[in-house]
This record gives sequence, C-alpha cells and structure tokens, in this order.
Amino acid sequence: MTTDLDAYWMPFTANRQFKKAPRLLSKASGMHFWTPEGREVLDGIAGLWCVNAGHARPKIVEAIRAQALELDFAPPFNMAHPKAFELAERLVQLTPAGLNKVFYTNSGSESVETALKMAIAYHRARGEGSRTRLIGRERGYHGVNFGGISVGGMVANRKMFGSMLTGVDHIRHTHDPARNAFSIGQPQHGAELADDLERLVALHDASTIAAVIVEPVAGSTGVLLPPQGYLERLRAICDKHGILLIFDEVITGFGRTGAPFAAQRFGVTPDLMTVAKGLTNGCVPMGAVFAKQHIHDVFMNGPEHLIEFFHGYTYSGHPLACAAALGTLDTYAEEGLLTRASEMEAYFADALHSLKGLPHVIDIRNIGLVGGIELAPIDGSPGKRAFDIFLECWERGVLIRTTGDTVALSPPLIISKTHVDQIVGTLADALKRAG
Ligand SMILES: Cc1ncc(COP(=O)(O)O)c(C=O)c1O
Repeated sequence: MTTDLDAYWMPFTANRQFKKAPRLLSKASGMHFWTPEGREVLDGIAGLWCVNAGHARPKIVEAIRAQALELDFAPPFNMAHPKAFELAERLVQLTPAGLNKVFYTNSGSESVETALKMAIAYHRARGEGSRTRLIGRERGYHGVNFGGISVGGMVANRKMFGSMLTGVDHIRHTHDPARNAFSIGQPQHGAELADDLERLVALHDASTIAAVIVEPVAGSTGVLLPPQGYLERLRAICDKHGILLIFDEVITGFGRTGAPFAAQRFGVTPDLMTVAKGLTNGCVPMGAVFAKQHIHDVFMNGPEHLIEFFHGYTYSGHPLACAAALGTLDTYAEEGLLTRASEMEAYFADALHSLKGLPHVIDIRNIGLVGGIELAPIDGSPGKRAFDIFLECWERGVLIRTTGDTVALSPPLIISKTHVDQIVGTLADALKRAG
C-alpha cells in the first residue's frame, strides 16, 4: 500500500487536513466500500452521485473487461466503432421526446462546455450570430472549466479565477427557507423567480442571449429543488424569446429523481441536456450532451466533406466508456433502477424528515433518492459543523457528503429500507452528539 501521500495534489479537498488523517477506500461492492484495514462503510452518496446501480456490478465489469480485450481505442474523428452508435440509439430511447442526438464527452464539465458552445454555434449557424450571451443561475454548479464556472454561481469556485467568460449573467437562485423550509418534495413558493429571466431580457435584449443553463435540482450547492411551476415558467420565457434552455442533468440523470431524467420527472423538456456520472455508473469517465433534432440539423449544411461542428475530444465515445455505459443501461433496465427512486421516495422522505427537531437542523429537502439536510453554521466557521458531522458518520461506517453546511445524500438506487435506516440513524446520532 502507498504510504507517501505527498505527491498527489487532491481535487476539491482540504489536502493538509486529509493527509494528517487520510480516509482511504480500497474496495467496493454493492452498497458498500471497504477501507484498506477492512472496515465496511455504507455508501450514502453513490460514490459522488454516480454509482447509481451500486458498486462492482457484474455486467458492467464484464463489459469493460471484454471491450479492453477486443478494441482498446478507436479514433473518434472521422472514424468510429459500432458501440458508439449502439449506445447513442439506446440512450435516445430513454431521453425525453425530441432529445434524439447524442454528442459524447468525458465528464460533466466537458458536457457543459460542449452544450454552451453548441448553443452559441447553433444561433450563429441559423443566422443570429448576435446571440452569444449565456445565462446561468446564482448557486448553480456546472463543473470546473471556464464556461462552467462562468455560468455557475458558487463563489468559492469562481473568485480565484479572474474574469472568466464575458457576456454572462445570472438569474436569482430559488433557495427560500423563509417560505419553504421543511417542504416535502418540491417547495410550494417561488415559481415567480423564473421571471428573473425577463429582467435580464429587458436589460440585455433577447437578441443577445443564446441560452439559459440550470440544474433541474441543484446538487452541489446543497440540494435545491425547483419550486412548483418554476421550470415550466422558465421554459415558457425561453420559448417566448427564442432562448435555448439547457438542463444540466449531470447528477439528476439516470434515475436519481425517480424517472430516467429530471426533465421527465418535472414534465419540462429542455433543448439541450448534459449528463455524465450515472451514464457509466461511474466506472469509466464519460459524459454526453443530448440535443434536439432541429439544433443538430442547423449544423448539417454546407459542403458534405466539411466538419460541421468544430468540437470533440480524443476520448469522445471511448470504447471502454461505451461498453461500460451499455452494461450500465442493461443493469438499470433489468433491475428497474431508473424508476426505483420513485418507489423509495416516500420511505426516504419520511426517514429524512424524522431528523427535524434535532440540534442545528434548519431545513430538510428531498426528491427521489436525493436528500439535503441544512444545518445552522457555527458562527465564524461556515461549513465546519457539517464537516464534523461527515467525519463522525465516516467513523461510524457511513459515507455522506457535505457542501457548505448542508449534508447531501444520494445513495445508490439499489438501496434497501434497512440501509436508509442505517444512514439516517447514523446521521441522527451524529447530530445529537454534535448538539
Ligand atoms: C450539475 C453538475 N454539472 C457538472 C458537474 C461536473 O461534472 P464532472 O465533475 O464530471 O466534470 C457536476 C459534478 O458534480 C454537476 O453536479
């Protein structure tokens, strides 16, 4: 086992603190991780919102193994391999009607960059080159590349990195605990916050705006649900002004909210949709952007021998990723996992909301198999209360995640009621101790 922790600069981690007391994982199966010492840890966050079918699923493992033997790599520019097409056909059977073109990437961040570029290029290709402005939302998370942090709205992810993209603006976030705290499922108040887009249209003029990007359920910023009617209103305003609506479904895609995609759960279809994570069950890096037919078709002009969209990655549609994704889709289908969160939602919600009244709990939010428990911050030390709870749960054999002072839960979709009880029971004990 590695003993020197020095060389590895860890992502999104308090490196110095981690290296004083490392938390290592060396094995995983089903709902569990194991540490190198053999301690079992229940996975309350599907790895990082990605291992939706649970760990080390045989069909996926076998698909990757067989693919590595058969075809390790094929160039994706002007060449292809059959599984990239097979996967695309399978995926568009699952997406909301109309989102029937697939562009492959390798991560959520790359999917976001791809969708933003597609939106701007689409308007230009159809003769409205003035539509270059991108609109995000406060508290949004769209990965870590320059486009994503520009439309994103989490200050810590932005403040160190200069002026970012120009021509970006943000609508208001939807977090409103004064009116919506402890809502079960979608909160009642706040549909009118979508009208903030009208404010930006009035300021910039619709003729300058290419697209609006939002997460249907904001995850990284602390599990914020769309108020009832909010997404519908956003869709209507986009339609009115010819603005493309992009849903970033990197965490909500592949069953997290109880339907294959949150767009279906909420009954609102975007023009472009970004995914990653659950696409391959987290086993091999892969992302994708789904586009409506008419967006794709606008590019299919000009001489046929010329590239239509100057964008793509060396590893777009990588054979191992395609194989992993096909094995993942088989596993989801065989076990009904893309709708299982809706069967578990009521039990999960009851368990989560039983934490109301425990020390420092100021809000609880839930949908499908996503939960957010917001804690009152310690004066002068934002984030510390939740992080202490995370450490306590880790010691007691449950992996949770925190963002700011919100505990976020997103367990594998194979979770049983006993596992729900263990996660929530451990969290309750930790909260009581912290009190
Ligand atoms: C909504 C959303 N978009 C984009 C990303 C970035 O994905 P990745 O870390 O794969 O680049 C994430 C990651 O959590 C996400 O939650």
